Amino acid sequence: MIGLRRGLVKGARIAALGVYVPERVLTNDELSRTLDTSDEWIASRTGIRERRIARADQASSDLAVEAARRALAAGGLAAHDIDLVIVATITPDMFFPATASIVADKIGATRAGAFDLEAGCTGFIYGLAAATAFVSAGIYHNILVIGAEVLSRSLDWEDRRTCVLFGDGAGAVVVTASDNGGIFSFDLGNDGSGAEHLSLPAGGSRLPATHETVDRHEHFMHMLGSEVYKFATRVIVESCEKVLADAEVTVADVDLFVPHQANIRIIEAAAKRLGFKSDQVFHNLDHYGNTSCASIPLCLAEAVAGGRLKKGDTLLMAGFGAGLTWGSCLTEWDL
Ligand code: ACO
Repeated sequence: MIGLRRGLVKGARIAALGVYVPERVLTNDELSRTLDTSDEWIASRTGIRERRIARADQASSDLAVEAARRALAAGGLAAHDIDLVIVATITPDMFFPATASIVADKIGATRAGAFDLEAGCTGFIYGLAAATAFVSAGIYHNILVIGAEVLSRSLDWEDRRTCVLFGDGAGAVVVTASDNGGIFSFDLGNDGSGAEHLSLPAGGSRLPATHETVDRHEHFMHMLGSEVYKFATRVIVESCEKVLADAEVTVADVDLFVPHQANIRIIEAAAKRLGFKSDQVFHNLDHYGNTSCASIPLCLAEAVAGGRLKKGDTLLMAGFGAGLTWGSCLTEWDL
């Protein structure tokens, strides 16, 4: 545990955590039966061995609702305690209404406002920052921040360059007002000049749905992997160095580093450049793949369950994704 030296944020803490993943496991070997790929290629290039796939009747809100209910139960909170529901997702149930509106209704958060937050895979960090700002300003007391994705519906299952990388899941936290601080500092970033490197091109106002957009597979995720790779390894390092410097915390002070789970090579390269030892770095993408906005809370839950993250620990989280966006958050774990 470290003291709050020059923390930028006071008055907010993560007070509850809940996660949900669908039961269906899709392994690399299964994928290689229908796709020109192999467990060896996927595992050695990405670190991923399997991922979860939502049932046909499950949309992102359904996964989010499960995670939210578990977070509320874990925190001893009722739905009417929640003032605001933020759902970070790149796979909303539909364009509108917001997935957060559906989630708030299903969990019975009738007092709460609700909105979706789209910041690519960095959405969970952006959501934490937004919730912290609302709470620190005294506007709201309890905010549900949920990262939820059914990426399996946005993937072109004939495109081996993308479909092997992603999985479905959801994670939720409650950000609550706190007298003792808790969340120390944030860094949020964006470089829209890289927008074309990672996108789902059609279906919006730029390229409305037509037979042609469907035929061209433009309603699926498109990614220039090598560009995203270079971007990610650079911004994670810069962003983490900034939040650590802002809070006057060193890498040695950090008990656990939880980066977005996109590729083990990105995680290892960034962690090495930052100077982390391997036992300070958490990853679980071998069994979940990249679950976008859900990846960080899924790691947190597993780290807590495995005793890797304990009350009082200094936790550094970092994300990156479509936009291109990035963000990091330094906090004291208080559960
Ligand atoms: N199985 C077998 N071969 C494959 C596969 C596959 N699944 N995918 C690609 N290949 C082939 C390519 O076709 C290429 O063959 P070619 O040389 O004959 O054309 C070869 O493997 C090498 O392809 P590269 O793209 O150069 O492979 P690379 O080593 O760069 O790995 C990867 C690709 C894993 C996508 C990597 O670039 C990466 O991880 N990038 C970052 C992706 C990322 O982080 N995305 C998420 C960002 S944010 C968010 O979460 C939405």
